[in-house]
Amino acid sequence: MLLFKEVKSLQKYLIGKNGSVGFVPTMGALHAGHMSIVRHARTENDISVCSIFVNPTQFNESSDLDAYPRLPGQDIAKLSEEGNDILFMPSVHEIYPTELPEPKAVDLNGLDQGMEGAFRPGHFAGVAQVVGRLLDIVNPHRLYMGQKDYQQVAVIDHVIRETGRSVELRVHPTIRETDGLAMSSRNLRLNLDERNQAIRIYQTLQEIQVGFSAEMPISQLEDEALKALDRPGFKPEYVAIVDRKTLLPFRYQQNENGAVACVACWVGGVRLIDNILLEPLRLA
Ligand code: PAF
Repeated sequence: MLLFKEVKSLQKYLIGKNGSVGFVPTMGALHAGHMSIVRHARTENDISVCSIFVNPTQFNESSDLDAYPRLPGQDIAKLSEEGNDILFMPSVHEIYPTELPEPKAVDLNGLDQGMEGAFRPGHFAGVAQVVGRLLDIVNPHRLYMGQKDYQQVAVIDHVIRETGRSVELRVHPTIRETDGLAMSSRNLRLNLDERNQAIRIYQTLQEIQVGFSAEMPISQLEDEALKALDRPGFKPEYVAIVDRKTLLPFRYQQNENGAVACVACWVGGVRLIDNILLEPLRLA
């Protein structure tokens, strides 16, 4: 695996190469979910590029930025074992040099307003900014992202279409621990008890699926899920059942895009998110 820290040297290397480039942007502390995405990028393209960059502009709290796990040694070992071709690990100055013009703000069509957007003001502007910058640098044929960050994927999909980029977005399903907890770099910050309790989040999403198949009222499903998560050591921020494309509140009568249930919940001092694509009851 080749490691690049500078934009210029990465671009110089890539320009001389033929073939398709698959790109996996990450913030490091890589887990099996990331590695499964990297594997797809590697096997579906001639060259796989993974970036590790903890992007300061998408953190609305500096304590969260400071506490974000950083494990460069382990990450490098995992990526090279996986056969990833290129790792890009830039500094903040490489990504945001002072001479770089302010990025053109993209209208996110309200996709950034609810859920994460409501609790993390400015978060998606930061995500759109860094992904735009990374795409400018790497210029990949395919961009790989994980469904665990459902709203992030919706925002980036919109930005790609809005800005006329030719990159193809490939979204990969959430990888879970055997007990159902969605894999996340933030899980590393849970203590053993919190880690064991955290499975309640996915269980709550599964309970929503049961009620959804029975067409229980959406507001009732959301309220009951919030109550289920309101337990010692937990602080749920939202449970929202929304249209899979518009991310607007879901209505059974207008359901051509389908529904997704999204949740954000603090477990101890760690904020976790998860989601489930809701399937209607199918009669055989
Ligand atoms: O999902 C993430 O890890 C980050 O939001 C991303 C897409 C790498 C942008 O910093």
